[in-house]
Amino acid sequence: MNLFIEPGSMVSIMGRSGTGKSTLLSVAGLLEPLDGGTLNFLGNDVTRLGRSAERLRRMNIAYVFQRFALFQDLSALENISTPLRHIRKRSGRSVRARSADALDLVGLSDKAHLRPSKLSGGEQQRIAIARALVCEPRLILADEPTGSLDPDTGGLIIRLLRDWARDSGASLIVVTHDHDVARQAERRYMLHGGILHLAEGSSSER
Ligand SMILES: Nc1ncnc2c1ncn2[C@@H]1O[C@H](COP(=O)(O)OP(=O)(O)OP(=O)(O)O)[C@@H](O)[C@H]1O
Ligand SMILES: [Mg+2]
Repeated sequence: MNLFIEPGSMVSIMGRSGTGKSTLLSVAGLLEPLDGGTLNFLGNDVTRLGRSAERLRRMNIAYVFQRFALFQDLSALENISTPLRHIRKRSGRSVRARSADALDLVGLSDKAHLRPSKLSGGEQQRIAIARALVCEPRLILADEPTGSLDPDTGGLIIRLLRDWARDSGASLIVVTHDHDVARQAERRYMLHGGILHLAEGSSSER
């Protein structure tokens, strides 16, 4: 079937362990090749992953993971700066300003200089989100982003991601085992037996 994700919208994917949800995100994120079908991203056919797909990925796609995946020996602010420095090859004052803005967006300006081990799980995930958003990606892939958090904190994390997608016009795919999280999406899918099924009550496919 077709999976089309409009700019500014959130799609959720649920399904049992081992059904291929993370694999689907890897394919959508241009990290793994398709073994069938076609893949279009920002008007480009990226079915075959070549150098141009690699560039599209680096410039436009960001990930958020269940276990945050922060660099433990860097401060919160340095974590957020990493993609600007190493992917966008920026340096100097603009990096500091953009990173500080992203930190402010997730409400943690007062924690700029703390290492991840000094932050709660929810705070670490907010830093990971700021790091994902700082390069203004067109696609955000979140693999169980609330899986290690309590329900209230998880709700805050999903609102941050969803609001940012809506405001910036980015597309957001969230894989989750949590029905409350999935319900936040404009369109909800179940992955079962290798097939994506549109959940009842979801707006229909384009
Ligand atoms: N690189 C790989 N090479 C071969 N098989 C893989 C690879 N990555 C995942 N798999 C297999 O593909 C299947 C789907 O894995 P995947 O991680 O996508 O599941 P998932 O739906 O994300 O599960 P969970 O909810 O437990 O995270 C599993 O059987 C897994 O062992
Ligand atoms: Mg998985």
